[in-house]
Amino acid sequence: MKVLGIETSCDECAAAVVEDGKIILSNVVATQIPFHAEYSGVVPEIASRMHTEWISAVVQEALDKASLKAGDVDAVAATAHPGLLGSLLVGLSFAKAFAWARGIPFMAVDHMLAHLYAPRLEYGDCAKACGAVSEKDLSYPFLGLLVSGGHSLICRADNFDDITVLGATIDDAVGEAFDKVSKHYGFGYPGGAVIDKLAQSGNVRAFNFPMPSLHKHKDDHKYDMSYSGLKTAVINQLDKFRTAPAGKDGDRPVDIAASFQKTAVDILLRSLLRAASDTGLSTIIAGGGVAANSYLRTALAEQQGLRCIFPPLELCGDNGAMVAGLAFQYLARGDRSDLKTTASARVKSFKRQYP
Ligand code: KG4
Ligand code: ZN
Repeated sequence: MKVLGIETSCDECAAAVVEDGKIILSNVVATQIPFHAEYSGVVPEIASRMHTEWISAVVQEALDKASLKAGDVDAVAATAHPGLLGSLLVGLSFAKAFAWARGIPFMAVDHMLAHLYAPRLEYGDCAKACGAVSEKDLSYPFLGLLVSGGHSLICRADNFDDITVLGATIDDAVGEAFDKVSKHYGFGYPGGAVIDKLAQSGNVRAFNFPMPSLHKHKDDHKYDMSYSGLKTAVINQLDKFRTAPAGKDGDRPVDIAASFQKTAVDILLRSLLRAASDTGLSTIIAGGGVAANSYLRTALAEQQGLRCIFPPLELCGDNGAMVAGLAFQYLARGDRSDLKTTASARVKSFKRQYP
């Protein structure tokens, strides 16, 4: 079954064709980054307007690259939530119209579940590294680490559509913290990739930024995270946390980047390792834009007794292939979404629920 997957939840206008939930026949990602860069952040109005202008051409390119005509597609899928409402609606409406016009099934999927699905995808010709992950390595249950510009989640995954959130950020998402720190210092946009690169030649010990102390008693906030304190410390209180003399290592951009990145990743690791130890789950599957972070990838790979699986770099960020792949799993068991399905900006269950 060839599924066309469309993803427009934020600033990537993306479409892909995936066969049987696994083999990527094409994967087109048209990024709007240059158009948002001058604002150092995604401008929702610009994002949805550009998706409207680009979506037809991006889908056509995905079909062309897969050497398919519109009539060769068996089903069409799109991201319905979470994300920027105006942006989501463009891809979702396009997918519904495509499905209706061709009389084929339509499937609406969740963006974070799609990120979690990404490591299962492969390129047919194996021209690009796909991590050589076996089905056995990907078997349920496992711990999911979903880290993006809008979310930071630690979950238990029991199936492709069944996750239980164990912990989440109580304020900013980790990717958002990278983006805000980068914006403040004028490092560039989007901040994650820029800070990752700068940090490679920086001193992680130039600053000793604070770790939040959320988990104070019993199970309270045991796996939750917080990034607003770190963000404030890095942006407003640099001197307070300086460990190297000012003017030496202390105020070089590379040192700020390295010290911030280390603390941001340590916050994730602390909650994640606690969850792994408490649940006894030793496989961790990461997804989302921040899963491309080189420090996080190395730090997790070094953990004894854990098997950590990351998507290839180009499947960490937003793409249509993960949408098509996940949709296949629903379609294969007979699920179909109604053409009345609409988009939603938020998903309530992505917060840790306390009694
Ligand atoms: O999943 P994604 O492409 O879009 C959302 O769903 O939000 O994630 C985007 C986020 C941005 O905050 C970006 O700065 C971050 O992922 N990011 C990174 C890296 N590459 C992208 N963060 C840290 N290190 C990276 N290498
Ligand atoms: Zn994403």
